[in-house]
Amino acid sequence: MADNIEVLASAPLLLRERRKSISLMLVRFIGVVLLAVATFYLFVGNFSSWTGSVKNEVCDLSVGKWIPKPEGPLYTNETCDYMASYTNCLKNGRPDSGFLHWKWQPNGCDLPPFDPLKFLNAMRNKSFALIGDSVFRNHARSLLCLLSVVAKPDEIYHDRTNSGIFYYSEYNFTIYDIWSPFLVSYKLEKNLPDLELYLDVLDSQWTKNYDKYDYMLMSGSHWFYRRAIIYENNKVIGCHYCPDLELNNIATDVPYRKALELTFKFITTSEHKPFVVLRTWSPNHFEDGEFSGSRICNKTEPFKEGEINGDPADLLMRSLEVEEFEKAAAIGEKNGLRIELLDTYHLSLLRPDGHPGAYRNYHPFDGGKKNVENDCIHWCVPGPIDTWSELLMKIVIP
Ligand SMILES: *[C@@H]1O[C@H](CO)[C@@H](O)[C@H](O)[C@H]1NC(C)=O
Ligand SMILES: *[C@@H]1O[C@H](CO)[C@@H](O)[C@H](O)[C@H]1NC(C)=O
Ligand SMILES: *[C@@H]1O[C@H](CO)[C@@H](O)[C@H](O)[C@H]1NC(C)=O
Ligand SMILES: *[C@@H]1O[C@H](CO)[C@@H](O)[C@H](O)[C@H]1NC(C)=O
Repeated sequence: MADNIEVLASAPLLLRERRKSISLMLVRFIGVVLLAVATFYLFVGNFSSWTGSVKNEVCDLSVGKWIPKPEGPLYTNETCDYMASYTNCLKNGRPDSGFLHWKWQPNGCDLPPFDPLKFLNAMRNKSFALIGDSVFRNHARSLLCLLSVVAKPDEIYHDRTNSGIFYYSEYNFTIYDIWSPFLVSYKLEKNLPDLELYLDVLDSQWTKNYDKYDYMLMSGSHWFYRRAIIYENNKVIGCHYCPDLELNNIATDVPYRKALELTFKFITTSEHKPFVVLRTWSPNHFEDGEFSGSRICNKTEPFKEGEINGDPADLLMRSLEVEEFEKAAAIGEKNGLRIELLDTYHLSLLRPDGHPGAYRNYHPFDGGKKNVENDCIHWCVPGPIDTWSELLMKIVIP
């Protein structure tokens, strides 16, 4: 069932890819029609061969399978230390290493391994903003680790949200790592009973330097699942997940859709035109453990297609992302603005083995400890999250 939803949800993407090669297809189409008319009466119904060949030419990076890969990752915990301690699974004593030996093989296209030198050369004199939450930072740190094989940056700015600016002097390349879990403005303070979300105000954390970005990668996040009081025009319009308050209940997808709409409105109406990439939802893989109430993830291999359907709430978030992206990309196309989708949702869904699980903490089972806390949201670095940068590279560097 959910697999069908998944396929349907990726249909607009396929359409978009097709639009790009529309003239080529038109020529081919006329030829095929002539041929088909001539052979129709001889081979009634035998159309699968040519529809099949059209499909094969559509490169959709988000559809494919994980295949074994003998080589390990480009970097290890010994060669890179940009990862947060709770994602440094090797250092934390994770015993299995099979999760490091899988390669994403998209259908109908080739996905080369990440090439740090090619990436850095393409980014000469450029700046790249990475905007989001802790899963996002997780990806940013994986990217820094991949690049560290060739060059290590200076961190030229750091603030209390752990946002940072990294500068590669040999390449005159700047990475902005920006903490902005909602893209819109929010208040989360000790003296406030609840998180407050302002749907009509963008988060200045990412907009203040917008004119400096040549590329930007952004995403929404699990923070939208949290209880929050929602504001518009400085007035409370309702609340998400507050049965105890007498407020209009607002469903999870509403604030996220509005945040994306406002973000894309800003992007498509600005004079400045960076190359914009929206990353889709990152799935978690919590399952019930052997202790009551314990939520774990201890799988050591990827799922095969059809073995997991995904959380309907996550699927809803991803499908609204695809919808908002489609709308913005169509406007962008008219204004000379590149907007692309980094659709990592499904390939990540197939990787329950990619999370720190218990190994979010250093040697969690030492001293015979049981029922330890698991992290099934973030991703081990190195790990399948490195693949996100391979897809990113394919999208931004032709
Ligand atoms: C890296 O991980 C290995 C285990 O895979 C561990 O023995 C080693 O101490 C770690 N090194 C660092 C620098 O964290
Ligand atoms: C670095 O890149 C910026 C932006 O393209 C450019 O203005 C500047 O001259 C470059 N600096 C060096 C030292 O190449
Ligand atoms: C980078 O900027 C410098 C200084 O403006 C310029 O000399 C150089 O050609 C630029 N390199 C690229 C690849 O644009
Ligand atoms: C995962 O955890 C479950 C429940 O604690 C346990 O039965 C199973 O053996 C574990 N699997 C692995 C691969 O450790």
